[in-house]
Amino acid sequence: MLLATAIFIAPLCLRAQAQTSSIHFDKQTKVFRIDAADVSYIFGVNENKQVQTLYWGKRLSAADTFAAAKSAPGASSSDPSIDTTRQEFVAWGGGLYVEPDLKVTFPDGNRDLVLQYVSHTITGNHLTLQLKDISREVYVELQYEIDPETGILRRSAEVQNKTSLPLTIEQIASGTWTLPRAQDYRLRYLTGRWAGEWNLREQAIQPGKITLESRRGSTGAQNNPWFAIDRNSSNDQDQGDVWFGALGWSGSWQINIEQDQIQQVRVTGGPNSFDFGYRLAAGESLQSPYFYAGYSHDGIGGASRLLHRFELASILPGASHPKLRPVLYNSWEATGFHVDEAGQEALAEKAASIGVERFVVDDGWFGQRAGDHAGLGDWYVNPVKFPHGLKPLIDKVHSLGMDFGLWIEPEMVNPDSDLYRKHPDWILNFTGRPRSQGRHQFVLNLARPDVREYVFNFIDKLLEENDIAFLKWDYNRNWSEPGWPAVSPDEQKKVYVTYTQNLYSILGELRRKHPKVEIESCSGGGSRVDLGIMRYTDEVWPSDNTDAFDRLKIQDGFTYAYTPGVMMSWVTDTPTQINHRMLSLDYRFLSSMQGSLGIGANLNDWKPEDFATAKKMVSRYKQIREVVQRGSLYRLISPGDGSEQSVTETVSQDQTQAVAFAFLHSSEMLYPFPRIYLRGLKPDALYRIETLDGKLAGDSPAVASGAFWMQQGVDVDLKGDFQAAAFTLKIVSQ
Ligand code: GLA
Repeated sequence: MLLATAIFIAPLCLRAQAQTSSIHFDKQTKVFRIDAADVSYIFGVNENKQVQTLYWGKRLSAADTFAAAKSAPGASSSDPSIDTTRQEFVAWGGGLYVEPDLKVTFPDGNRDLVLQYVSHTITGNHLTLQLKDISREVYVELQYEIDPETGILRRSAEVQNKTSLPLTIEQIASGTWTLPRAQDYRLRYLTGRWAGEWNLREQAIQPGKITLESRRGSTGAQNNPWFAIDRNSSNDQDQGDVWFGALGWSGSWQINIEQDQIQQVRVTGGPNSFDFGYRLAAGESLQSPYFYAGYSHDGIGGASRLLHRFELASILPGASHPKLRPVLYNSWEATGFHVDEAGQEALAEKAASIGVERFVVDDGWFGQRAGDHAGLGDWYVNPVKFPHGLKPLIDKVHSLGMDFGLWIEPEMVNPDSDLYRKHPDWILNFTGRPRSQGRHQFVLNLARPDVREYVFNFIDKLLEENDIAFLKWDYNRNWSEPGWPAVSPDEQKKVYVTYTQNLYSILGELRRKHPKVEIESCSGGGSRVDLGIMRYTDEVWPSDNTDAFDRLKIQDGFTYAYTPGVMMSWVTDTPTQINHRMLSLDYRFLSSMQGSLGIGANLNDWKPEDFATAKKMVSRYKQIREVVQRGSLYRLISPGDGSEQSVTETVSQDQTQAVAFAFLHSSEMLYPFPRIYLRGLKPDALYRIETLDGKLAGDSPAVASGAFWMQQGVDVDLKGDFQAAAFTLKIVSQ
């Protein structure tokens, strides 16, 4: 099934090449220099033909020159030069003790691989270096692509087996990022669990290694494949040096952050090497996932803004102009598994009345799906719930002026399903061993060609037969017993790569065949969000926790790595299902309006005044959504660390508009809400302020300069518990 070249990714879009970046090679010194935006990235070929990192950070002057790279002396007989020399990509061979980028075993038992530079090519924003082992016909192609707008580098490595025998890859990374030498680095990363995703954590980088990873078969919530490293532990959001990166891979992954024996900090990332083994036949090659990384001089806030811009311009389907997210309604928290034609039509009418643009039927519409014990895998429309198929409901939704979306969970099967009864061998399993269930379901082995075909075909048919604009693609458990008995034992561990490649290829093929269909990546909440899946999905679901207060922290963490333009956020009922908190409808709306607005409440229980509030808020959201989804996000007050307040501001790319959201968690000791000092405005332009909800303090002028709003600030009148306010600024003269 594997092609001669197995690649981890299949680019969906190409970007126009801008003029602000350059890649140079100096023949005398053998130094490569990449410059773009505010970043310079420099490395050279040293006397041992190793590719040695020389600099990564703030853009240097064009006049700055670098001498030829020279390998570092070893620190002692215990730490030889191979460990102290900062290499762009190093294989495990010789006396290497730092994290390798590549580790292989040859059939004769040899496991030593020593790579040397052979040649390179530069084409526009791409640089490719060819390395080769000192004696065997094993080649590695290092690929670099620089984004001119943000200075974000995309790296990947392709291993080519040109020997006459197979070899096994036991570890493959996309490359090593080495930071400038310093001892005061701090790592920030994201961790979480179901209903508690996206917690920002930090720790000092000290001698030794920190591993962020997933061994779960998919991205997971425990860690997200994103990191940011700053210096001096400065908590200023918008100032200071930050190096950051994110891996584009939705299978098990790892990012290692290592301070070596001479205090150099190296970051490597790729598929998880735990239980990994990829047999590469003679003539085959394997390309690692993309690892993206960048640098910002404008603090952690600047780093997220660069990532947001990059995702919108280069990653998402439709980049560089992905479509704005419509306001959607989803039935899950209203009707659970009890969906039927009449009930959904009634909800659709109510949703349309408040301005919803997309109506989505969640779980429960297919097979014998009465609850989560049965039906997954049987993707026919349930004839009792929808006796005439989905068409009458879809027609009704269209007649109400909305488009139609549907929930699917294609990679899973319940034991109680026709599919499992027919194909018990289609799941991940080890012969004769237990088959662990999660949410009463098994994981289909998407690496199998027949499973891939089944999954593609049922979705293709669904989209052929129904006028569907949107799929919520769910994935509700992690792997267990990841065996693939249908192939020989030495091929079985390929499942980690082939599964994920097949997932991408199904998504890519569906998108090509049904270009109007948009897709959301959901995984029991936010467990599969990464720059790999985002190449194929228009939006993501950050968490099943829809409590609007908890969501402030979840959304805050999420936006460190990912743009609010893909961050779905529903307004649900109160008391919230997840923790029984009572929150006003205004508060719930304002919390959700910081991302891509959805409604997930049971509209059958709403009172007329709720509909009136919702209608007003949906219409206001439509006025600000372009700013929220495409603008530059500033975190003015973070909701983390027991803060009593939080404030975000988003400024349109052209700086003509801004919107700010303020939340008071609880008033204490008569202190007023902190004054809000805006950021990112044009100091000399005049902006008109307008409240979204009447909570601006009375003494604000109606019009003032950007400098005024940034230096004098704005007061909002918030007192009590769980209060919220929002206002906009619009330029009136430049
Ligand atoms: C997951 C999703 C929810 C909902 C249910 C349906 O938990 O995160 O939004 O779709 O599945 O079973």
